[in-house]
Order: sequence, then structure tokens, then C-alpha cells
Amino acid sequence: MCGIVGYVGTKKALPILLDGLGQLEYRGYDSAGVALVEDGQLEISRAPGRLSALKKLLTEKLTTSTGTNGIGHTRWATHGKPSEANAHPHASEGVCLVHNGIIENHLELRRELEREGVVFTSETDTEVAAHLLAKEIKTTATPLDALKQMASRLRGSYAFLALDERFPDRIFVAKTATPIIIGVGEGEFFIASDIPALLPYTRSVIMLEDGDIAELSPTRCYIERDGVEQKREVVQITWDRTTAEKRGFPHYMIKEIFDQVEVISDALRERVDMSSLEVDLSETHLKEDQVKATRTIHLVGCGTAWHACLVAKYLIESIAGIQCVVDHASEFRYRSLTLHKDDIVLAISQSGETADTLAALLRGGEQCRTVAICNVVGSTISRKADHVLFTRAGPEISVASTKAFTTQLVAAYLLAIALAEMKGTLEQRREAVRALLNLPGAIDSTLKLNDVIERIAERYRTHRHVLFLGRGLCYPIALEGALKLKEISYIHAEGYPAGEIKHGPIALVDDNLPVVVLLPRQNELFDKTLSNLREVGSRGARIIAITDSERHDEIAPYVEEVVTLPFISHHLTPILMSIPLQLFAYHVAQKNGLDVDLPRNLAKSVTVE
Ligand code: AGP
Repeated sequence: MCGIVGYVGTKKALPILLDGLGQLEYRGYDSAGVALVEDGQLEISRAPGRLSALKKLLTEKLTTSTGTNGIGHTRWATHGKPSEANAHPHASEGVCLVHNGIIENHLELRRELEREGVVFTSETDTEVAAHLLAKEIKTTATPLDALKQMASRLRGSYAFLALDERFPDRIFVAKTATPIIIGVGEGEFFIASDIPALLPYTRSVIMLEDGDIAELSPTRCYIERDGVEQKREVVQITWDRTTAEKRGFPHYMIKEIFDQVEVISDALRERVDMSSLEVDLSETHLKEDQVKATRTIHLVGCGTAWHACLVAKYLIESIAGIQCVVDHASEFRYRSLTLHKDDIVLAISQSGETADTLAALLRGGEQCRTVAICNVVGSTISRKADHVLFTRAGPEISVASTKAFTTQLVAAYLLAIALAEMKGTLEQRREAVRALLNLPGAIDSTLKLNDVIERIAERYRTHRHVLFLGRGLCYPIALEGALKLKEISYIHAEGYPAGEIKHGPIALVDDNLPVVVLLPRQNELFDKTLSNLREVGSRGARIIAITDSERHDEIAPYVEEVVTLPFISHHLTPILMSIPLQLFAYHVAQKNGLDVDLPRNLAKSVTVE
């Protein structure tokens, strides 16, 4: 989710690059950099932190630079902490490049290059591509051929913009899996990873396709794929900039709900081997002896992250056989803790800055090893934990967490498998991992229910109270569905374990109360939850059933709505069940005219206690 820009034409490139990076800062903002060709020399400037730090560094250069060809990058770190050394562009022997994506085989390529004497200066996967490009250029006819050759060595997702100081009026482009858009001007071309950066200069754009390689000069845009020149259609963009930042969606929340296919694919990259179905979490540096000695894992988090802790408990206990205890971070931090030195405190946090979660992590760290599942590289929690697993959800702008939550569940699932592998207790690894590989497709299918959920939201949006019920792995999802609804639509909503309903909450049920019931396919849970559904249905509840079971005929007589989801595995059901609940909350709030992305009283990251 980094932002990349490029310009080649007759104007000064630097102000255009900086403006473009400013338009893309929502895609990532932990460091930034630009490269220009000035008098036949590559000049690279990089700065950690927000784009303003780079602009400050370039204050003088903005008045002196005459270069009309350049590339730029604003980073969302996936490999290597935010720093000047890890910022893009990365250079090697007269070429440089910026990159958006993940190179899955970067470690093996790095070792190959180091054996050949290449000295690396960063921790990034991108630097590998820069050195590989410089190496290939020595044995190919043109930089474009070298780029093709370099790209053929890579596995993963990438969009590259490259400069070669020997070709001062050219930009070389390679694209697969992550977006690259070319803006067409008069005697100039603008390149960006997203439309907002182009709109101040042109609305005529070319969308590169996977496998495209391109060479741009002020007067020519050459595109080829598999060695064959491609004529790509020039389309007109009608969006304004704000709409473009949301990829055409009206709010960040709905955009981020639909981002989940891509970001969950990113969360799996380089961690799951598609052929051997092996899981590789060596990035956490957890050791087998540590894991084998682990008696209890104490999971801590807040809000949605706490719900992720509850799901992680089910997953780790059932897959890895390690006892887990879940606590609100705000409670854990005040407990009289008696942790065992071989315990693990596992903190889950999207922002990595939540004060209560940080405090709980630090308290736990006084007595045992700590692990963090986090979305922001360089965040405090990710730096303070002994081990960290990043979720790679990209920047989550909307206050209501959606893609961060489902990628937290994916991270927990991967961790459970890795823990079980290290303990030697993993059964049916191949089935467990194969299910994970089917997840992006299942999410894509589930998102196709958006119109159905929107209709249901219209039907129930005026109610002031809603119950959410679930058992087992669906209980935390009932809690999450309730939180989503209440935090953006201000409707009172509660999630309960379905088995709890008869111990009091059923007194709330009357013939006007909507009750969302999650019915997982797993027979025992399905049967018991169905009886709870009948209990509330017989008292007049207006039931919305969400299920991945085919047993519709047993559900239909008691409900007003049934939403059927794809099934891939019991352990992954919670992720799929989350999506209709995210959509339900979104459409209710949006139809009620509320500020979906910035709900009242809430902040994206609660850094106060
Ligand atoms: C979720 O929709 C909320 N925005 C909130 O509960 C959030 O999950 C909680 O504040 C924890 O934030 P964190 O994941 O950044 O630590």
C-alpha cells in the first residue's frame, strides 16, 4: 500500500513529484523519497517520517532543480522499520527504483547477490530489485530488457518505476498485482499508483495490466507484455480527488471492506508456500524451544482487537493445543500478575499505539516473553514486543476497523499453525493451509452479497436496539458485529454467547427486536444455536440468520432474513462471518445519514488511558 509517482516531460519534475506524493500520503506515510535525473546524474533524496520531512529537506532544491524526469515514493513499511536507509528510491550502479508490493523470494535473491559481492544498505525487499536490475543491465541491450529480466526472477507482487542515468529522459515501468496508472499529457506523462495523484494534471489515463512492461519518454509511451507491444485504451476519469482516494467508494470504510481480498492476499504472501503448503513465520524469530516450553498465552487487546484475541484463543487452543487466556488490556494491566517465565503475552493492536495495550504488553514483558500482532511497522507496540507479526492491512483510515480485524485473524491463524508446527502437534497441515489459500476467493464471493446486506440494512435501520448471538468461534464475531453497529450508527447493540441468552438477555426480546444469529456449519454449534434461535423467535424476535450451512429448511421457518456465506473451513468461518456484519453496520449508518468514517466521540487510535 505504498504510494509511487513519476513524471517525464518538459516541466520541472520535483514539484510535480512532491505534489503527487502528497495526494498519495493516505497510502503510506512512514518515510518518503524522490530521485531526479539532473545533468545526467541520479540525485536521490529520502527522509523518514511524513512527507513534510522530505519537503523540508528539499526546500532549496525546489528552487534550483531543473530535472524534468523523476520518480517518488511514500512508504508503508512491510520489510524493515521506517528509516532513511529503508526509504525508497533504492539505487545501484547508476539505476534506481521505487516499488509497491512484496517480493516473496527477496531473501534468496539477497543471499545470491551478497555472494556476488553486493553490499546492502537497507533491510528492504526493494533494494534486492535495485541491485538485480543493475546486474541485469550489464548483460542486456536496453534497460527495458533488463527490467524484464529482473522481474522474471521475482515472486510476489510489484509495481516498479526505474530510472537509468544513461537514459535521462526515460522512465521504465514493470507492473504485476499492484496498480500503476499512466496519466497522458501534452508532451509529458504522469505515473502513479493511484488516480488522485494524476487528477491535478490530467484526466486521461492508461491502466497498466499485470505483466505489462513500459518505457516512457516525453513523447512516447511504449507498453509491451510477453514481448508483444500492447495498445492500451486511454480512459477519462470523472472522479474528483476525494472520491478517487477512496477508489470511487463514497467512504473509506466501504473501500477498506472491499480492500480485504487484496490485503488478506498480502498477509499470506511469502508466509505460505503455495506448492508445499508450508507456513513460514521465521520473521517472528520465535524459537522451537521457547514454544515447546510455553504453558499459557495471555492475549490482550482493546475493542475490535480484543475480539481478535478471543478468536485467536479458539484458534491457538484448537490448532496448537496451547492454553490461552484473554483479557481486556485495560484490565490486564492492573491485575496482580502471576505469569510463568515460559508464558507468552500476545498483544493485538492495529495502530500499535493504544495506551492500554502498550501498558499491558510492558507489564507482561516484566515477567515473560511478549509477541505483538500489529498493522503499523515502527509503532511503539511493534518495537517493544520481543516478537512481532505484521498484518499488512495497509493504512486503515476509517475509525471503524474492518480489514485490520480480518488480517489480525489471518495472522492469528498463521501463528497457530506455526506454533503447532514447532510443537510438533500440527494435524492436517495441508488441509489447514489449503483452506487459507482459498480465503481471498471466499471473501470476494462474500462481498458480492453487498446488495443483499444493503437491502437488509434498509429494513432494520430505524431500530434502536439489536442483539447479536453466536457460539464458539462465532461468539467473538457476534461481539464484533455489535461493536461495528453501535460505533458508527449509535444504535444500542449487544453481542452474547448464544447459550447465554436464556440466562437473562432473553427478557429483552419482544416482537420488535432484531436479533442477528450466526449459525456456523459445524453441526454441534449449528444445532445448539438453532435452538437458541427458536427460543428468541418464539418470543417474536425479528431474526436475521447468517450461516455457512446448507440446512436452510431448518432455519427458514423462524427468521425474516437468511444470508448464506461460502464455507471453506470451521476455523476460517469467523473471518467470512465478519464481512456481512461490517457491511450491515456500514449501510445502516450510511442510510441514516451519519458520518461513517468519523463517528462521534471516537478516535482511530486511543493513545490515552
Ligand atoms: C474498532 O472498530 C475500534 N475503532 C476500536 O475498538 C479499536 O479496535 C481499538 O481502539 C483498538 O485499537 P488498536 O487495534 O489500534 O489497538
